[in-house]
Amino acid sequence: MVIMTVRRIEMAYDDIGSGPALILAHGYPFDRSMWREQIDVLSAQGNRVVAPDLRGMGETKATGEISTMADMARDVAALMDRVEIERAVICGLSMGGYVAFEFAKLFPARLNGLVLAGTRAPADNEQERQARFQQVEQMLANGMSGIAEASPPKLLAPRTLAEKPEVVARLHEMILQSDPQGAAAAQRGMAARRDYSDDLASMNVPTLVMVGRDDPIRPVADAEFMHDRIRDSRLEIIEDAAHMTNMEQPEVFNAALLNFLHDLE
Ligand code: MLT
Repeated sequence: MVIMTVRRIEMAYDDIGSGPALILAHGYPFDRSMWREQIDVLSAQGNRVVAPDLRGMGETKATGEISTMADMARDVAALMDRVEIERAVICGLSMGGYVAFEFAKLFPARLNGLVLAGTRAPADNEQERQARFQQVEQMLANGMSGIAEASPPKLLAPRTLAEKPEVVARLHEMILQSDPQGAAAAQRGMAARRDYSDDLASMNVPTLVMVGRDDPIRPVADAEFMHDRIRDSRLEIIEDAAHMTNMEQPEVFNAALLNFLHDLE
């Protein structure tokens, strides 16, 4: 792990391997440790894998009341400058996908490819925004334990819950370790995010869309919506996985990602 000052924040990240660069952008309220299997496997297969803790999450400290998705995308670009990566494939899961959309808009020339996992293009409706603000109040008042308890059944497929207790425990622990201030800032940033739907038709970069068959949060229809509109895209539906596809079915996730990276060469 390295910590580097990037845009006035102390950013923690892993930078492993050498070869074409792959940046992994984690979801909410998680950190870069969710990518453990991807970091290990993809770096061993000839890729340089950079996985940051996005601002306010993991070991990267929070700054201010709101972390917008564009802030996070700019942090990633600034980190790429510091570690001398000109172009990369950006892979984002859920919130990391929103960051990838912002990156694609802000820095299209720096993208070799895009991986959008368990995410969606439309912005929130009013009810979803209000639910985010309620969660912010809950986290700031009571910490992360309520969310850590309630989340695994919503984020993991029935099969994962039944057969992979280590994944359940890892997810629970990761949420519990999150800093409530940082998570609140990210949650406000997601509530404020724009609608990415209109970006899709003009996106000109090879894209892999991935989704868990059992994801109740970002269902298959959200993935099909992106796949239908992004010209150069392919869709991978992962069986026996819900929202945390990369942790629930790492072999399948990694195989799809490696295929995609291979085809970009
Ligand atoms: C995530 O996993 O990053 C979140 O579910 C994203 C969201 O709340 O929209």
